Formats: sequence, structure tokens, C-alpha cells
Amino acid sequence: MINSMSSVLICLQTLLGVFLACAAQYKPTWESLDSRPLPTWYDEAKLGIFIHWGVFSVPSFRSEWFWWDWQGVKYKDVESFMQKNYKPDFTYAEFARDFTAEFFEPAQWAEIFNASGAGYIVLVSKHHEGYTNWPSKYSWNWNSMDVGPKRDIVGELADAIRSKTKLHFGLYHSLFEWFNPLFLEDKANNFTTQNFVNSKTLPELYELVNKYKPDVVWSDGDWDAKDTYWKSRNFIAWLYNSSPVKDTVVTNDRWGSGVMCHHGGFLTCSDRYNPGKLQKRKWENAMTLDKQSWGYRRRVELSDVLTMEDLLETFVSTVSCGGNMLLNVGPTHEGMIDPVFEERLRQLGSWLQVNGEAIYKSRPWSFQNDTVTSGIWYTKGKSGDGYNVYVFTQNIPSGPLILGAPQPSPQTVVSMLGYQGKFAWEKTSTGMSISIPAIPVNELPCKWAWVLKLTNIQN
Ligand SMILES: *[C@@H]1O[C@H](CO)[C@@H](O)[C@H](O)[C@H]1NC(C)=O
Ligand SMILES: *[C@@H]1O[C@H](CO)[C@@H](O)[C@H](O)[C@H]1NC(C)=O
Ligand SMILES: *[C@@H]1O[C@H](CO)[C@@H](O)[C@H](O)[C@H]1NC(C)=O
Repeated sequence: MINSMSSVLICLQTLLGVFLACAAQYKPTWESLDSRPLPTWYDEAKLGIFIHWGVFSVPSFRSEWFWWDWQGVKYKDVESFMQKNYKPDFTYAEFARDFTAEFFEPAQWAEIFNASGAGYIVLVSKHHEGYTNWPSKYSWNWNSMDVGPKRDIVGELADAIRSKTKLHFGLYHSLFEWFNPLFLEDKANNFTTQNFVNSKTLPELYELVNKYKPDVVWSDGDWDAKDTYWKSRNFIAWLYNSSPVKDTVVTNDRWGSGVMCHHGGFLTCSDRYNPGKLQKRKWENAMTLDKQSWGYRRRVELSDVLTMEDLLETFVSTVSCGGNMLLNVGPTHEGMIDPVFEERLRQLGSWLQVNGEAIYKSRPWSFQNDTVTSGIWYTKGKSGDGYNVYVFTQNIPSGPLILGAPQPSPQTVVSMLGYQGKFAWEKTSTGMSISIPAIPVNELPCKWAWVLKLTNIQN
């Protein structure tokens, strides 16, 4: 009796095991793919660095859309730039030999990205121009080994990031290519043929994942055709079920027209998406330090670059509402990161050294911003059995700081991250009022966006 009971149990366990193994296999439907829990590292990291680098970094004029702006839209300023500076029959492909990358030191980039406090990077492996930053078998003579740097940019940066830092390495990849004849042919056929996808997009994506094992596959350039044309659901199912990164990889939502903001791993919705409200699903705010462009622009002016105040407002509001921020820099064609960008990254890192407790692994609180005082954002962080609430403020008011959202208890303690001592507070009819002492400037824990920590509040 006991024996047969235990064999029934073993049998049930085996069945359950088989069932779970089957259930873990994602099907190529959005319902199934969307049900995969995001690997936890992604939400905990909160900050990633986006890197737009390619042949467009050579003209470094207007934006990374240079080729399209010149020969697609035919913007007057781009046409006149070309007329004035290049011989009449100059082609876009000729820019590639000047993508020299002679000062590209992957270890130096890794050190700078790490110093920003980011948890991952996303490097452009191929933008809409079709040039691959790795020696792809599927991009003959239009890749970084055959023409330009003569280097495997993706491989070198992956190695440096992995050997020097704990950051996760991710890749951006454009599904379509503006002027690829195969793509244009499929498009002319209303995407009833798939020659471009079968011979270019998919082989390239599998090659990238198998060779470089990215923890982020950040897809783009999807909008012209449906996911059925791109076969993206099949690719993602492979990524989640059996790829070398199946347990760690995260994907975004740009996998075919109508998919963005609805399906995929995390939602990007639009460039610089920052809804200011709590979202149901994990999302990412992909944005740029140069407000005008993702690729490097030689004509960037100081006023085009986000100040630390702007940057922290965006970062803090994003994290409060459940998002990650993917902060973009565009290196020069020589491989340098503009010192202004480098400074912002290091400043952000110095701020995170003090305030990381309120950011990394934080969760959205019941309130994202305050109900009384504007410009105040909140997060919460686990603390023993309960949690702390963190209050972000860009200003230290001369009088008391009035908060409507937190309901204090007699045990509530208020302090400032990076600063010794407790702040006095009073309960008010709507919430609480905090007296921030007059802290000498040289004793402030950071230069921008201070964080108050509230313990033992009632909500
Ligand atoms: C990476 O940054 C952390 C601080 O965020 C620092 O402790 C560590 O030394 C850095 N590593 C490298 C290789 O610079
Ligand atoms: C593509 O669709 C358009 C509009 O529906 C139609 O006019 C055109 O004939 C189609 N072309 C092909 C090659 O099927
Ligand atoms: C908080 O955010 C909401 C939603 O964006 C907004 O309507 C409200 O005015 C904000 N509260 C304050 C005090 O600014």
C-alpha cells in the first residue's frame, strides 16, 4: 500500500515535471511570448547605456538618419552639405572607409559606461543603413571588418564589458534597411515575398545571438511590415526556448507594425517615452543626451545637451513609474565619447553612488508623484518585513517640505540619503511636513536631486 502510494506520487511528480518542462516552452504566439516573466536583472538595473555608432558617424551631420535624409527625403540642408563638401558622384557607401575608429578603446568605453552606474549597455549592431558592426557572413563588404575600422566592434566591446565590468551586454538591430534591394523588392510585392527576411534579417539575428550572446535584443525598423513578414514571433520563441541566452535575455517591443507598445519583453512605445504615470507592464524610456540626435553630430551645441537637472528629472520620473532609462550617447567616427557626454555619465554615476538605494531594485510606490507639491517623485524599497519610501526632490525648499502622499506613523523616521542625522517632521491634515535643516552646500551629499528616506509610514 505504502509502496503503491509512493509510486503513484513519483509518477505524479514525473508527470508534473514533464508538464512544467512543456509549459516552459514558449509558443510563437504573442499570448505565450508575453507570458514569459522578465529576467529579474533587467528591472533591478534601472539604467542602461545606448550606443549609436555606424557609418552615419562619419558625416555626423543632422542625425543617424543621414542617408535617408539625403537620398530619401532629400532635405535641402543635407543636399547642400553634400554639394559643398563632396564630389558630385559621391555615394553614401564611400563614407564607410572614413569610419576609422582609430581611437576606439573598448576597455575605456567599458570603464566609462560602468562609471555611470548603468547595469547594461545596448550597442547598435546594425542601423537602418545596413552596415554591420561585426563581420557578418550576410553583409558582404558592408561590415566593420571588410570596410572601415577592419575590426569586430561588437565582439571587442562584448569582451571588454564582460571582462572588466558586471554590466549586461545587449544589442540593437534594425530589421529593415532603407535601400537594400531585397527589402525594396519584398516591399514592392506588398510583403508577399520574404527574400530579405530569409536571406538577411533572420540569418543575421541568429548569427548575432549565437556569436555574441546578448542579454538584450533591442529590435527596431519594424514598422513597414507585420510580424508575420519578419517571422519575429518564431525568432523570439527560439530566443526564449533554446538560444544560448534563453534564461537571461530580454527583448523590446519593436517586432512588426502594430506590435510596439503591445507585445514583447518590455515596452518602448515611442522614442523618449515617459508617460508620467504608473504602467501595467515593464517599460523603457529610450532617450538621448543630445536632444536632437542618437548618432554623433559635429554641430552639437551645449544647449542641445541635457543638463544634470533635466537628466535626473527624466530618470527619476521614469523609475517612479516603473520604467528603465536607456540613455544614448553617439561616439565620433574615431571612437571617442564626447567629453560632455562622458561628464554626464560620470555625474550620473556619482549621483547613484549616493542615491542608488532609492533606485536599484526599487519598486513603484502607491503614489508616483506627490499630491500637493509638484516635482516630487517616489519609489519604494524593501526593508526587513516592510519597506522604505524614497522622496526625490530637485529643490531644497527654504521652508518646510509639504507632502500629501505619505501618511506618517509615530515611528516614522525621515533622513536624507548620504547625510547623517534625522529630520524633524509633523503630521498635517493631508500628510506630513518635513523640516530640512539648512545644510551647508559643501555638506550636501550630492549636487542635484536629493533623496529623503521615510521609514515606518502607514501607507
Ligand atoms: C564599476 O563601478 C563600480 C561603482 O559603480 C566600481 O565600484 C567599480 O570599481 C567599477 N569597475 C571598474 C572596472 O571600473
Ligand atoms: C500591393 O497593394 C496595392 C494596394 O493594395 C495594390 O495596388 C498593388 O497592386 C499591390 N501590389 C502587388 C505587387 O501585389
Ligand atoms: C502628479 O501627476 C499627475 C499625473 O501626471 C498630475 O495630474 C498631477 O498634477 C501631479 N501632481 C502634482 C502635485 O503636480
